[in-house]
Amino acid sequence: MTTPPEFLYGTAWKEDRTPALTELALRAGFRGIDTANQRRHYFEAGVGQGLAAAYRAGIVTREDLFLQTKFTYQEGQDHRLPYDPSADLATQVSQSMASSLEHLGTDHVDSYVLHGPASYHRWTDDDAEVWAAMVRERNAGRTRVLGVSNVSLAHLQQMTHSGAEAPHFVQNRCFAQLGWDRDVRAFCREHKIVYQGFSLLTANRPVLSHSLITGIAARQRAMPAQVIFRFALAVGMLPLTGTSNREHMSQDLASREVVLSADEVRAIERLAG
Ligand SMILES: NC(=O)c1ccc[n+]([C@@H]2O[C@H](COP(=O)([O-])OP(=O)(O)OC[C@H]3O[C@@H](n4cnc5c(N)ncnc54)[C@H](OP(=O)(O)O)[C@@H]3O)[C@@H](O)[C@H]2O)c1
Repeated sequence: MTTPPEFLYGTAWKEDRTPALTELALRAGFRGIDTANQRRHYFEAGVGQGLAAAYRAGIVTREDLFLQTKFTYQEGQDHRLPYDPSADLATQVSQSMASSLEHLGTDHVDSYVLHGPASYHRWTDDDAEVWAAMVRERNAGRTRVLGVSNVSLAHLQQMTHSGAEAPHFVQNRCFAQLGWDRDVRAFCREHKIVYQGFSLLTANRPVLSHSLITGIAARQRAMPAQVIFRFALAVGMLPLTGTSNREHMSQDLASREVVLSADEVRAIERLAG
């Protein structure tokens, strides 16, 4: 799929349920899947099993899908590494990518994301080396586009000032308390980067019970979670949901139908930060 769908289904923390939940998400209507070659939090081979089952059942074809996975530094992994830890970083990227393609049963992904920079504070030489290797993977056709995750505004500024190619996606945990990641979203808008928001519900529990949200939900006969996802879409985010519940899958996709006025969007944006 060349253009990403409006919603991504996240596959973290599902362990043995990963194949069945991936297939269920596709049956429910998701066409974008987010995973990572990080066995500690994701079972990427299980995502591949779920995809294969969906292909066999005739629910979707590979061409219908937007598949996104990630390269994760050794510091973010446990002992189940998808690369040789003694190899240089560029080799680790190509080994991780080859392993992802095998797990997912495809010859290319749609988006390849650096799971997080090496340092919390700055864009390092290691990041530059990994990013250059990811660009080579993209140029070789193994991913359509590239992204970075868990980045601050400083990371993005340093990355682009270094002359590195800008990412197509930024994927961040989106805290309402930080104006829904206002600074990073503004940078993304300016540089035509698509912002992917995760933990929209789990990082913002008090917002879900705020009277502004519950009031809109009641008027729209919607769930508060749907109002949050609709808000995310309205401000240009590509939201992720990692629900394990069939009904919530449908609800999350149906959030596109919730109607929000421009005033309501502005009020939610200012709600907590
Ligand atoms: N780049 C990174 O470092 C990073 C980090 C974290 C996550 N992610 C990605 O983002 C994905 C999503 O993670 P997340 O943190 O946003 O979500 P999550 O941890 O998967 O949790 C979503 C939560 O929201 C609930 N939920 C979803 N829809 C709901 C609804 N309509 N009504 C009520 N509750 C609802 C779910 O409960 P039910 O299961 O009961 O519905 C679940 O408790 C992950 O799977 C992963 O792919 C990336």
